[in-house]
Amino acid sequence: MKVKAKAHPNIAMVKYWGKADDELRLPMNSSISITLDKLWTVTEVEFDKRFKEDKVVLSGGDFSKKERLRVVRHLDRIRGMAGVDIKARVVTRNNFKKASGMASSASGFAALSLAGSKAVGLNLSEKELSVLARLGSGSACRSIPGGIVIWHKGSDNKSSYAESIKIGKSLDIRVLLIEVDQDGEKEVGSTRGMDLAKTSPYFTQAIKRAERNLGKIKLAIRLNKWEKIGEVVETECFRLHVLAMTSKPAILYWEPASLRIMNKVFELREKGIMAYFTADAGPHIHVICKRKDEKQLMSELKKLVGVKQVISCGVGERARLLS
Ligand code: DP6
Repeated sequence: MKVKAKAHPNIAMVKYWGKADDELRLPMNSSISITLDKLWTVTEVEFDKRFKEDKVVLSGGDFSKKERLRVVRHLDRIRGMAGVDIKARVVTRNNFKKASGMASSASGFAALSLAGSKAVGLNLSEKELSVLARLGSGSACRSIPGGIVIWHKGSDNKSSYAESIKIGKSLDIRVLLIEVDQDGEKEVGSTRGMDLAKTSPYFTQAIKRAERNLGKIKLAIRLNKWEKIGEVVETECFRLHVLAMTSKPAILYWEPASLRIMNKVFELREKGIMAYFTADAGPHIHVICKRKDEKQLMSELKKLVGVKQVISCGVGERARLLS
């Protein structure tokens, strides 16, 4: 039976940047993210005794050998859970390119976990799916539930999973994904970057800070305090990037255009537009804002030198089956 599932990527408001267990992908701290409605991955999985080997296809693109191996390892986990040894065919498609600044691993492993587990005959709960997705890529566990999501760091495989946070409709949050020009050099991926974070002299303090920020943002979300939410989001962006810049060797993810955007957001805030930025392991910037400010922000940001495109997103749904 072929099973198709769809999942959205997410961007972190409180970041995951350090592992307590590399193999299980247990994070050093809990984190919070927003699911992005405009972007998605659709993955189709089929297990069949007639298949001689696993076949993994990225439609409209190509997986590297390393990426393909990571998918096959995930299929092995799914087979292990079901107690079967049947090969699979996986066809996956993203409606966004890596260059849009979004890592496709979160939506990718979330969609693969849902489609793969169903295709092999498992009926996993949301929590079990989140645990499974986490083993493929940490941030993927946050792409199983929808909306604003918290990943409880947990202390073992079963207790580290993500779930939605209840929010009032009034939160009214938009996320602008701003793709900037890059000089073509290969970025340091999250897995490697996180590994290096431990070499930063600020690592221990940074993890404590993340936990404090988590408490602050949870309260701010509950009380719908927009400016407090924004302050934490920006602090978290700098927390990750300071760790990266002070790792050995140092990683500098930003490009000149990334800084131009940050300065523009500071400037617009002075004028009363309460928008805030964040950035993951790359030069692209994500700006959170209220719907009423979205148009003005988009037009101001598009004018900046080095900005390639701005994609506006709302809050996305959970991972779900399409067939
Ligand atoms: C910068 O989930 O890609 O986006 O678990 O090694 O696959 P692995 O890492 P990954 O890391 C994402 C890091 C981040 C911040 C975040 O999403 O919290």
